[in-house]
Amino acid sequence: MCGIIGVTGSGDALPVLMEGLSRLEYRGYDSAGVALAAGTQLWTRKRAGKLAELVAAVGDAPARTSCGIGHTRWATHGRPDDRNAHPHADCSGALALVHNGIIENYLPLSDELAGAGHHFASDTDSEVLAHLIEARMAEGDGLADAVRHCLKAVKGAFAIAVVHSSEPDLIVAARRVSPLIVGAAEGVGLVASDIPALLGHISECFALEDDQIAEVRPGSMVVTDLDGNEVTPSRLKVDWDLEAAEKGGYEDFMLKEIHEQPKALTDTLLGRLQPDGTLRLDEVRLDDDELRDVDKVFVVGCGTSYYAGLAARYAIEHWTRLPVEIDIASEFRYRDPVVDSRTLVIGVSQSGETIDTLQAMREAKRWGAKVLVICNVVDSSMAREADAVLYTRAGPEIGVAATKTHVSQLVMLQLLALHLARLRGTMYPDEVRTMVRVLHELPAKVEEALGRDGHVSEVALACHQVRDFFYIGRHVGYPVALEGALKLKEIAYIRAEGYPAGELKHGPIALIEPGTVVVGIATGGHLLDKVLSNVSEVRARGATVVLVVDDGDESTAALADHVLWVPQTHELFSPVVDVVPLQLLAYFLAKARGNDVDKPRNLAKTVTVE
Ligand code: G6P
Repeated sequence: MCGIIGVTGSGDALPVLMEGLSRLEYRGYDSAGVALAAGTQLWTRKRAGKLAELVAAVGDAPARTSCGIGHTRWATHGRPDDRNAHPHADCSGALALVHNGIIENYLPLSDELAGAGHHFASDTDSEVLAHLIEARMAEGDGLADAVRHCLKAVKGAFAIAVVHSSEPDLIVAARRVSPLIVGAAEGVGLVASDIPALLGHISECFALEDDQIAEVRPGSMVVTDLDGNEVTPSRLKVDWDLEAAEKGGYEDFMLKEIHEQPKALTDTLLGRLQPDGTLRLDEVRLDDDELRDVDKVFVVGCGTSYYAGLAARYAIEHWTRLPVEIDIASEFRYRDPVVDSRTLVIGVSQSGETIDTLQAMREAKRWGAKVLVICNVVDSSMAREADAVLYTRAGPEIGVAATKTHVSQLVMLQLLALHLARLRGTMYPDEVRTMVRVLHELPAKVEEALGRDGHVSEVALACHQVRDFFYIGRHVGYPVALEGALKLKEIAYIRAEGYPAGELKHGPIALIEPGTVVVGIATGGHLLDKVLSNVSEVRARGATVVLVVDDGDESTAALADHVLWVPQTHELFSPVVDVVPLQLLAYFLAKARGNDVDKPRNLAKTVTVE
């Protein structure tokens, strides 16, 4: 996730910026840069790679420059290289800007600006902001008014910090959706995307709210709204230590990432919709005719990414009427599957580097298939080698057990399914629009499900001595059961089996005995009655039953010893919501056992050996 730091009024801004950037490293980044307000031009350096690359490049910085901004970038638009690293400049080089977030309407805006003679030096969505502000300043606005005006024109999510050589002690900062903190004390003004960057410099700061703009000068700041009215931002007391600050106040990165899921979903959906309500999957390099030609789909991945494929299969088949096979990457590549030039092979991977999936994609290409990759890391090996790539925008995931990337993969696969269905004519445009509307309700529903974490923790405490868990579900509930069981194995080290509820009676039911915990996915799908029959079978054999149940469904809840309530959603999207209490359940069980949830034993975040 990108990070921002800005300082004005410091005797020497560069060391403050570099220290701030190093404090932001934990968030993950692929490039970094700084701009210093020095005289009539700005001095800028940016480098792809680790901070050490930037450190090596700033040796000739102008001495004792008191104002500047810095950025660590996590690529979303444009590959991670020097050109696309921030800060971005306007055409004159008098302005430098850093940006976190996604500008949804950057394409029409940059077309317009290019038509008016602006030259773009990067492939990012962010650069458009620099030119928009430049255009406005050319009409006579000061920096703050120009920023205000420009923000009225943009759609999407942003936190920005801007400096201009015409006012070399001023930083203008603003936000919508993406967080930004500002503060001023004792002759210094500071701006940062999160608290670790500010620690040690300031003990009290302010969180900007959506569409607020701060003019930060040495020792003072003024915050206004988009219409220029002065407002009071929310005060933040900074009494965290560095470790707590990096985790955003959460105990672990995994818990933080579980709670970041609504934002990960919102960002993944951002900008994918055309103004007329149709889908824009603009990173798809396969043209519409090639996609229309597809007669079979494979979804291939490992671990949690594989389960995202399993859960999305129902929507892809239902909407596109294409046959869909879901395969474990290390099996797919060795089993001589029936693949030809009309087959679409979708590789799903958080990292884009997992060797099993990467090799499976290479094989699929060799067999002549069209290869599309869904991954979270821009310019990863899979992204570079595939015919097409769709990025989930979950931000870096530090916890080894995948959470926010899983739900983002699911939503991305569902969007892709809607796109294919529309191209193939298996859905009417208004049906697609209805589904897209429901998709956009998911972040709020996930937020609601997260709000019940206190109750999930009580359920975990009630079960934490148990050694055997079963997770059961039917239809879309089955992959949710698999993912719930995987999470429990990964971080709580408890034996857990995910099973299709209807298949339990053909063997595993022999393992059910008094005290075994059976977690059932019992939200309102068309097979709920059948799931409940299977729940009755295990209850009769003494199992402790935990059910994931739609809000208000009291008759289903009555069959459970413990209920995990979730907001109801469309059946095909329900895995996105239903998996949330299972992530939390695994998390609390692991914590109850004293495990390190961020670094579970024997596991690696990215596995690059076969
Ligand atoms: C490892 C991780 C899992 C992850 C799997 C696939 O095994 O521990 O959490 O699901 O790799 O990783 P990918 O980056 O391809 O999604």
